Amino acid sequence: MRTSSSNVVVAAEALGQNAIKIISNVCFSVFVFLVLIFTAIAVTYQPPDPWLDSAPAFAKLFAQIGNATFKNDNSILRTGEDLTTPAASSVLSPKEAVATAAAAPPIITEAEIEKAEEKIENSTHSSGSPPPACDALAGKTINCSDPLVLLAIERFNLRAFRSIVFLDYQAPVNGSRSDECDVMWRFRNKKERSWRKYRDFRRFKIGVRDDCSYKVVHPGGWHSGINARRAWVSSTSRPNTTRRAGKSGKFAPPVSKDDQINDTIPTLGSDASFRKGRYLYYSRGGDYCKGMNQYMWSFLCGLGEALFLNRTFVVDLNICLAATYNPSNKDEEGKDFRYYFDFEHLKEVASIVEEGEFLRDWRKWDQTHKKKIQLKKVRTYKTTPMQLRKDKSTIIWRQFDGPEPENYWYRVCEGQAGNAIKRPWQALWKSKRLMNIVSAISGWMDWDFDAVHVVRGEKARNKVLWPHLDSDTSPEALSEKLKGMVQPWRNLYIATNEPFYNYFDKLRSQYKVHLLDDYKDLWGKSSEWYNETTALNSGKEVEFDGYMRVAVDTEVFYRAKTRVETFYNLTRDCKDGINTC
Ligand SMILES: *[C@@H]1O[C@H](CO)[C@@H](O)[C@H](O)[C@H]1NC(C)=O
Ligand SMILES: *[C@@H]1O[C@H](CO)[C@@H](O)[C@H](O)[C@H]1NC(C)=O
Ligand SMILES: *[C@@H]1O[C@H](CO)[C@@H](O)[C@H](O)[C@H]1NC(C)=O
Ligand SMILES: *[C@@H]1O[C@H](CO)[C@@H](O)[C@H](O)[C@H]1NC(C)=O
Ligand SMILES: *[C@@H]1O[C@H](CO)[C@@H](O)[C@H](O)[C@H]1NC(C)=O
Ligand SMILES: *[C@@H]1O[C@H](CO)[C@@H](O)[C@H](O)[C@H]1NC(C)=O
Ligand SMILES: *[C@@H]1O[C@H](CO)[C@@H](O)[C@H](O)[C@H]1NC(C)=O
Ligand SMILES: *[C@@H]1O[C@H](CO)[C@@H](O)[C@H](O)[C@H]1NC(C)=O
Ligand SMILES: *[C@@H]1O[C@H](CO)[C@@H](O)[C@H](O)[C@H]1NC(C)=O
Repeated sequence: MRTSSSNVVVAAEALGQNAIKIISNVCFSVFVFLVLIFTAIAVTYQPPDPWLDSAPAFAKLFAQIGNATFKNDNSILRTGEDLTTPAASSVLSPKEAVATAAAAPPIITEAEIEKAEEKIENSTHSSGSPPPACDALAGKTINCSDPLVLLAIERFNLRAFRSIVFLDYQAPVNGSRSDECDVMWRFRNKKERSWRKYRDFRRFKIGVRDDCSYKVVHPGGWHSGINARRAWVSSTSRPNTTRRAGKSGKFAPPVSKDDQINDTIPTLGSDASFRKGRYLYYSRGGDYCKGMNQYMWSFLCGLGEALFLNRTFVVDLNICLAATYNPSNKDEEGKDFRYYFDFEHLKEVASIVEEGEFLRDWRKWDQTHKKKIQLKKVRTYKTTPMQLRKDKSTIIWRQFDGPEPENYWYRVCEGQAGNAIKRPWQALWKSKRLMNIVSAISGWMDWDFDAVHVVRGEKARNKVLWPHLDSDTSPEALSEKLKGMVQPWRNLYIATNEPFYNYFDKLRSQYKVHLLDDYKDLWGKSSEWYNETTALNSGKEVEFDGYMRVAVDTEVFYRAKTRVETFYNLTRDCKDGINTC
């Protein structure tokens, strides 16, 4: 079974000892030379801000950490849906390319609305009935079922909410008064590269113009059109008045559930199909319970190797969340991948199998067949992906049982392997459940807000590495500095790790301040998020932890119109400590 590694040994012994010495001397000189070059580059290079920058910045951040410990882990980085690097998109599997094309639904445009209006006008003229008298309409009850009402609302939305794309609308229903209509629609944020859909339903006050056409007098706030939601929920089948709902419009009742999410664990099916597969299995290594950045970096290395080897990657859905993200300040095991990441998307774009399913099928095979499954165990990361390429075993099992830092997954992608393996960033999106919270917060502000990212916490306390950070992020300094960057009385979202809620009170005399904790209800006991995560966790409550907070903060910040960063906008201190910029 160990054919390739024994080949290497034989080959090595065939070479004379002297030859090896010469080669290693040459290699060492080349190595030293390269190190000098890289040091020179590093000294003149300004590191981009990994909190907002993309994969290359992430790569650089990790490359700097020779000791393989990840200190820099209390703010999140963007995941696949935020990245726009060509490198990231070139690793799409053909399956994903198809999925992306199919998932891109038609969007509602001004031209389309005009055409629909014209059509209605033509048909009323041709049918011979006179146009309705405006006098009859003015001040009277608005007929929410009139298609022209919906078109007026569509046009209004298109002009009012420019940062989102409208995908489809439900037919409006009566509001609470005679001139109100409630309507529900699905949308996508233009800042988000995924085609995941979000829902909003609002109440509109409708008026009639002199020329008899409808207009929106006043739009309601986020999720104000509760009758539209009720109508949607109570209709057991899809209402036939729906416009362009497409194939994906499932209108099954469950009240507190996002029916767009399907992150069930897929099964492999029959014995025979298990045998036919080719798997890459990584045992749990030293990355377990390390920070989430290391988790992602390592996970994507494994998934990248599986792509390179054209194998199915075995995914362990259990995550151990590092102490820094936990209110308890202890590492916590038993977190689910699906709390943080979009498992449905991962299933779609990569060939994966869940570890539990995989082990069950493997055991079953070995119990029911005389001939065991072909297995290749790989004990060290020093065996490169290139060496494994020719291996035909059903399972390649990387074991990672050395001491730290030998047992980190990402070491597989070090050195030469790094050139062969491309980390498939596109495969890792944030959980749709977290993104629903992001959508709700930005929708609540009508997608019209500015944001500031205020880094405090440990960095602010560390006066040696960040001498001015604390004073530069004091309420007084913030108030002064923001004056030049954000207009008064704008919605201002503050993404921060400052735990004291009232810390930013001084800004309230200048801005409409929003903090994550203002939106507690979105993950409170009666929320959709609570209901769904509880269900994932077999009925037990899931804590809204520090990592989720940062994930949501990051994405809301990213959707703001004006964005003010801590480093280089608020303070001249360097992001990574004194003299690093
Ligand atoms: C690596 O980090 C650990 C823990 O922070 C420290 O104890 C150790 O001395 C470091 N090793 C090197 C080579 O810097
Ligand atoms: C409406 O009627 C006009 C003129 O009669 C015609 O040019 C136009 O194509 C019609 N539009 C639609 C959508 O039928
Ligand atoms: C409202 O409009 C719909 C569609 O145009 C029409 O079928 C219905 O009769 C109207 N209802 C009233 C009360 O006018
Ligand atoms: C909506 O309101 C109108 C006028 O008040 C009424 O005629 C109609 O029946 C209502 N529709 C529904 C579905 O309640
Ligand atoms: C919608 O479906 C119902 C029942 O299937 C039917 O009675 C009704 O006429 C349909 N309405 C329209 C506008 O097609
Ligand atoms: C969810 O996805 C799985 C495949 O991963 C599929 O077998 C299942 O039918 C889907 N469930 C729903 C409700 O769409
Ligand atoms: C990848 O593996 C599948 C079966 O596991 C095979 O059908 C396909 O041809 C392979 N593709 C490449 C590029 O090797
Ligand atoms: C989620 O909400 C649905 C409908 O309200 C309810 O039936 C279900 O029990 C809830 N699930 C949990 C885990 O609370
Ligand atoms: C923050 O700093 C960056 C880089 O210096 C600059 O491009 C950006 O415009 C600044 N933001 C604001 C709101 O001034």
